[in-house]
Amino acid sequence: MPPTTNTCRSDEFDALGVLPVALVRGIGADSDCFTRSFSHADGRPGRLHDHYRVHPVSSAADTNGSNGSDARSSERPLHVAIIMDGNGRWAASRDLPRTDGHTEGEENLARVVRLAVTRNVGWLTVFGFSTENWVRPRGEVRHILGLHEKLFGRVRELNELNVRIQWIGRPFDSAAARTPKYVQRAIRKAIHDTASNTGMVLTVAFDYGGRTELMTAVRAARAAGQPITPDTIDAHLYLPELPPVDVMVRTSGEQRVSNFLLWQSAGSKIHFTDAAWPEFGSTDLDAAIALVR
Ligand code: FPP
Repeated sequence: MPPTTNTCRSDEFDALGVLPVALVRGIGADSDCFTRSFSHADGRPGRLHDHYRVHPVSSAADTNGSNGSDARSSERPLHVAIIMDGNGRWAASRDLPRTDGHTEGEENLARVVRLAVTRNVGWLTVFGFSTENWVRPRGEVRHILGLHEKLFGRVRELNELNVRIQWIGRPFDSAAARTPKYVQRAIRKAIHDTASNTGMVLTVAFDYGGRTELMTAVRAARAAGQPITPDTIDAHLYLPELPPVDVMVRTSGEQRVSNFLLWQSAGSKIHFTDAAWPEFGSTDLDAAIALVR
């Protein structure tokens, strides 16, 4: 007997209370958790992702419009994931406090979002704050949280760009989660206020760790009485709609993946650059895209 649609979802969706419920409703009555497609509340089709196979991706020539490709078109658009490293070193090299590096990093993210839209990137996922980052000095954590509030507050810009924002991370109500209410509110509001955009999907990983995500997915599949298969794990990830990563980028000379999207990036290319995140720009983004287009 197929499991109920509720068991196909992870808890953070309840916490968000916006798109997720709509997604749950969209899973067809005759389908089960292994289903790869669903409908958003407004009828737009969505897709669960497909393991680590290398998929054909759309080229700049066959996508449309200056506002970026439709992330739900028949040919799967490119997914670029970025580990934004080096804010602190960027600041130190200029005799600035580390927090200035993060501030500049947030500004640069806004620039890179704009840039990615012009390159017809369909999915841009960035590592904003990891489950390990809470141990940083309290003032630095507070500053980074404020920058997330700022980023999620850029709704007007995102709407102008037709960008839909998403969040991936530990459910707010899970035992170890520490996301303050004001950041939760900013996240929920931004997701709600950009939900109808049809262009690039910007996913911000906040309080995110890949191993925890995987353990959570396996436990949820077990609790639902399902066999542990790639499909059941897919269906229980924090954000099942996130497609496989085509290219992972890490800035600032470190050559590690640091627990970021471990499942989703199983088949991805990797572009490492010495540029610190605040100075990451079109040359590096184009080099990363060239690895897969
Ligand atoms: C790495 O710099 C960056 C982070 C720990 C995450 C914070 C990222 C930003 C503030 C960029 C803006 C993004 C969002 C989503 C608001 P680091 O401190 O590890 O640099 P270091 O390795 O040079 O010390």
